[in-house]
Amino acid sequence: MKNSPIGILDSGIGGVTVLKEIIKLLPNEDYIYYSDSLHAPYGEKSKEDVINYVDSIVKFLISKNCKMIIVACNTATAFAIKEIRDKYPDIDIIGIEPAYKMIHDFSYNKKTLVMATSGTIHSEKFLNLYHQYDNDNTILLSCEKLATLIENDDDGIEDYLREILPKEKIEAVVLGCTHYPLLIDKIKEFTP
Ligand code: DGL
Repeated sequence: MKNSPIGILDSGIGGVTVLKEIIKLLPNEDYIYYSDSLHAPYGEKSKEDVINYVDSIVKFLISKNCKMIIVACNTATAFAIKEIRDKYPDIDIIGIEPAYKMIHDFSYNKKTLVMATSGTIHSEKFLNLYHQYDNDNTILLSCEKLATLIENDDDGIEDYLREILPKEKIEAVVLGCTHYPLLIDKIKEFTP
C-alpha cells in the first residue's frame, strides 16, 4: 500500500532547503511540496493574508491525504502556525523559526546577525523568542527584498547584499528565512 505523503509548504523555493534536510533523515517517505509563488513574498503581506494562504494550502494538502504538514517558512510560521494548529488539531503541523536559541545555547557572546523577512522580524512570535534569548549583542536585519530576488534569481542579489549587510565584524549569522541558505556562500563572502 502506498504511504500517505508528508506535505511541505513555502511561499516559493525556500522550503526546498528544508525538504532536502528532511529527505536525508526520512528517505523512504513520499512528499508533496507546495510552492505558493502566486502569493510570494509572504514577508510583505499582512498576518491575515498569510493565515488565509496557509489555510488554503493546508486544506489542499489534507485533501491529498498528507499525514503531517511542515510549514517550511519562517514568515508563515510566525504569522499563522497557531491559528492553523487550532483549526486542524488532528494533524501534526510543524513550523520553523529563526534558530536564535542556538546562539544562546552555543555562541552566547558572539556578535550575532539575524536575517529574516520584515514580517518575521516584526512578528510577536519572533520578538518573544528574541527577548527570551537576547544576548545583548545582536543586530536584527529585516531583508525586505531578498526572498524575491532569490526567487527570481535576480542579477541584483550581490548589490543588495552589499547594501544591507553590516560593515562591522559579525561572528554568527542566523538565517531566519528558508530562502537564505541558498545564498550561504555569498552571505559569508559579504559579511565581515
Ligand atoms: N521562505 C520564507 C521564510 O522562511 C519567506 C519568503 C517570503 O517572504 O515569501 O520566511
